[in-house]
Amino acid sequence: RAQTRKSLYTLLEKSAEFYREQLKTHANKGRAVNYLKGRGLTGKIAGDYLIGYAPPGWENLLKALGEAEDDKRMLIEGGMLIHQPDQGKLYDRFRERIIFPIRDIRGRVIGFGGRVLDDSKPKYLNSPETPVFHKGKELYGLYEARQAYKEIPRLLVVEGYMDVVSLAQFGICYGVATLGTASGEDHLELAFKYTNEVVFCFDGDEAGRRAARRALEVALPVMTDGRTVQFLFLPDGEDPDTLVRQIGPEKFEKLIASRAIPLEDYLFDAVSTGLDLKRLEHKARLSKLAAPLIYQLPKGVYRELMFQQLAKR
Ligand code: GTP
Ligand code: MN
Ligand code: MN
Ligand code: MN
Ligand code: MN
Repeated sequence: RAQTRKSLYTLLEKSAEFYREQLKTHANKGRAVNYLKGRGLTGKIAGDYLIGYAPPGWENLLKALGEAEDDKRMLIEGGMLIHQPDQGKLYDRFRERIIFPIRDIRGRVIGFGGRVLDDSKPKYLNSPETPVFHKGKELYGLYEARQAYKEIPRLLVVEGYMDVVSLAQFGICYGVATLGTASGEDHLELAFKYTNEVVFCFDGDEAGRRAARRALEVALPVMTDGRTVQFLFLPDGEDPDTLVRQIGPEKFEKLIASRAIPLEDYLFDAVSTGLDLKRLEHKARLSKLAAPLIYQLPKGVYRELMFQQLAKR
């Protein structure tokens, strides 16, 4: 079993190197390079994040790394090759996409995200769950954040690969993203291993606001005393990538410092929408909505203070 994993890690590493190489040498590399340039990425940051290119074609990775039967089997297990035994088909999962390798906290490549170079769908494709890749437990960019700081100042949880990479290009190296899944409790526990300060910063759109509301509920049970969770809501239509490019890193960090809403305020905001708190029945409704959320907090000073806050309101 341990041996199997070791070769799986090795093949995933080699896959990342293969895609990296394609970005530098493939006949179609111009398209990929232009895309990345068009997104404002430098060669330096692409290198730091091992960004690569899966060229068009069904058997590029298969031919490069899947000669031996053992390796073929392993590449299937690692999600890199798709096997349809009934049709006798075996082919590359990632084709004609920009490739974002995902590393675990030790820096081992465990999976990939791939983005199309145009408007086709699906926009992103991720590795499936494999023996070494568990989407619910990994944060894209966490390894790189740890490399960048002696002590990570805070973790900014964003939605996408491009958000993490863009922020890092501008020197904000504490962005992390969940991998095409909603933020769960395991993500948050992982983040809190490396910092006491987590800021959720989702896109300024309906999906982003829904994600924030969900993140609130996920955060409640892990809010032990001393941890802080904040929410930064972006202007409509912006995501961290577009905003940091527009206003620059200094202003972006000022925004975090001045506009991020502490969990306690967001909780009351979220349950107060549409309520007129001068009216008694609305106060009652607030209490009815807020109390079950506050009960989700672990027992401690923070929870007691939240109940006091509720009473005050
Ligand atoms: P860019 O368009 O490259 O800037 O991506 P984005 O991160 O801004 O994408 P968007 O805000 O539309 O979506 C947020 C995140 O949801 C993405 O980073 C992906 O992780 C995920 N996502 C978006 N589209 C898809 C999709 O078609 N399939 C899957 N599996 N995930 C997606
Ligand atoms: Mn595992
Ligand atoms: Mn979005
Ligand atoms: Mn984006
Ligand atoms: Mn986005």
